[in-house]
Amino acid sequence: MANPALARSSAGVTAVTSNDPVVQVCDVCKNYRDVEALRGINLEFERGKLTTLLGPSGCGKTTLLKIIAGLVPATSGEIRVNGRAVTGPGPERAFVFQDFALMPWATVLRNVAFGLELKGVVSAERNRIARRYIEQVGLAGFEEKYPHELSGGMRQRVGIARAFAVNADVLLLDEPFSAVDEQNRRKFQEDLLRLVEQEKKTFIFVTHSIEEAVYVSDRIVLLSPRPGRISQVIDPMIDRSASPDDIRRDAGYLDVVEEIWQGLRQYAE
Ligand SMILES: Nc1ncnc2c1ncn2[C@@H]1O[C@H](COP(=O)(O)OP(=O)(O)O)[C@@H](O)[C@H]1O
Ligand SMILES: [Mg+2]
Repeated sequence: MANPALARSSAGVTAVTSNDPVVQVCDVCKNYRDVEALRGINLEFERGKLTTLLGPSGCGKTTLLKIIAGLVPATSGEIRVNGRAVTGPGPERAFVFQDFALMPWATVLRNVAFGLELKGVVSAERNRIARRYIEQVGLAGFEEKYPHELSGGMRQRVGIARAFAVNADVLLLDEPFSAVDEQNRRKFQEDLLRLVEQEKKTFIFVTHSIEEAVYVSDRIVLLSPRPGRISQVIDPMIDRSASPDDIRRDAGYLDVVEEIWQGLRQYAE
């Protein structure tokens, strides 16, 4: 195989372990009454890396994120974060929901500062931190606006700024850009890559878009249809020193997009 990404992806199971994992998913299974959502998931996630979960609708991506977040219990198996077993939500993990989940009655500033408010950080300090992240996601000047005054893309930025402001180690992003038009989506992808680079956190990302997954990920985990199992692990190995346009035209990038498309195609209805 000429393409090193393709060669690497065949390493399969060995690629899912690392020396210093922040999050460990150990043999996780999930049943909702008579629905088997996930079966035998083993994965490890490292600091400073972005892993994308990709797979057909209903394969358990959101379920896996919620189990890692501690919002939903696994039926069997275990999640460990920094070596400790997860028994519920914790401040070291932040969840960015697909539908933003902002407080409509609160300003952008208050929404972003909310997690810090819950942690008991004093007002001046939490506003200082919140303003920093509002600026980082490109919303400086919108601090006093309310969610209904913002576009969908801007609301999503508020959700991301809020997740960053609490300084969680682990960011769980469930299709955060799905409601955003293509132009803004690309801008978001650049923002996300900058945050991954700057923040050295552990990112677990879900998207429906193969191109987006290849563009932003250090690693892509393909899941099979329900019950979700790991079907393939791919390291796209994108050269991020190239310009966004050059990356999207690069033969290696396009090969990985094609490989994933072929991998998922068997599941298309
Ligand atoms: N609370 C629930 N009760 C029963 N079934 C659920 C629940 N949440 C999800 N499911 C089912 O579990 C499967 C996986 O769902 P989900 O994790 O949302 O998939 P994805 O995010 O990959 O689309 C689906 O078949 C879905 O209908
Ligand atoms: Mg989902």
